[in-house]
Amino acid sequence: MVPSAPPEMPAAPAQPPRAGPYALEQQLGSGGESLVWLAAHTVDRTPAVVKVQRADVPTSRMRREVAVLYALQEVKTPGVVRLLPAGADSVVSREPGVMHTGTGEELLYFVMERLPAEANRNVIKQLPLKKSDVRDVCFGVSAALRVMHLFFQVVHNDLKPDNILAWRDPRGGLQVRLLDFGQAALLSPHPRWSLPCITPEPQFRYVYVYGSKPYMAPERWHGQVVYDRPDASGQWSPEAVVDERCEQWSFGATVFELLTGQRLVNSGSDEQCRRIIVNGDYLSAVRDAKLPAAVKAVLSRALAVNPEQRYLPSPSVSGLDFFCRDLEDALA
Ligand SMILES: Nc1ncnc2c1ncn2[C@@H]1O[C@H](COP(=O)(O)OP(=O)(O)OP(=O)(O)O)[C@@H](O)[C@H]1O
Ligand SMILES: [Mg+2]
Repeated sequence: MVPSAPPEMPAAPAQPPRAGPYALEQQLGSGGESLVWLAAHTVDRTPAVVKVQRADVPTSRMRREVAVLYALQEVKTPGVVRLLPAGADSVVSREPGVMHTGTGEELLYFVMERLPAEANRNVIKQLPLKKSDVRDVCFGVSAALRVMHLFFQVVHNDLKPDNILAWRDPRGGLQVRLLDFGQAALLSPHPRWSLPCITPEPQFRYVYVYGSKPYMAPERWHGQVVYDRPDASGQWSPEAVVDERCEQWSFGATVFELLTGQRLVNSGSDEQCRRIIVNGDYLSAVRDAKLPAAVKAVLSRALAVNPEQRYLPSPSVSGLDFFCRDLEDALA
């Protein structure tokens, strides 16, 4: 995640801090780029969650996160947390709201429906999951990612258990929602490769070097290399190509954790993490796991070091869907 200064908001408020018409009640989390608050509407008391961007983070970051959430909501994408109106006008906007800290500083924020994130309700906090719950989480998450990959040509780019919420509804079914679109990245066509790749625009550079390291696919560790023209020696750099299959790898690492309760990659430092992932050392954890052989085979394919060996998407089916199909068969 992007390194940042300590949070500057709220500055010793006399009253509860406000974001538009919402009172911020309790801080839920504090990530590299934002603070997440439990909140309630000051007039109708609607419970909400408000994400407030840190002062030192470029405004383009949250603007992009809100734009992606808005677009997904507009086409009624299943399995994605819903935006709520940020202002008093009851209109869901594609732009973040602007709030003021106690010191008069302006910060961006957006408002979401409040989901059951408590450890006793969010089954993602109760690992390992039983097979049927893993299958439901996979289908819930892949339904959202299918729209992102195929319809919008966007990758979530920060897939991991912490960014998934799942809870049992009163009828015993599992409700699944994908969160945290702060790292979402655009895929764009490239003349040299069959699949659209992450756009190497300067403002998107960090998508290669920042992220949740233990869930970052091997090809994302090669750093930003300009690949729309040959390098100095006249060579193209195929290792720089990052496409939707990076999401398949993160999903594989996530499913491994849901099934075993263990992280696929455990490391003390970023450098150790990089080595384990780039060299494929994590595959021994899959081999040694107490899982059926068929499940290990499916996971090993999604987690292949070389994206060519993972599930390949077709124009109308995300590679992740093929992964989920085989996983369901293997779990049966
Ligand atoms: N709509 C929501 N309802 C309930 N809990 C939420 C909601 N959104 C986020 N949370 C909780 O807050 C945590 C942090 O949220 P999120 O993942 O969006 O931010 P983050 O990881 O801190 O972001 P960043 O890394 O971009 O700063 C989540 O893991 C979840 O536990
Ligand atoms: Mg998160």
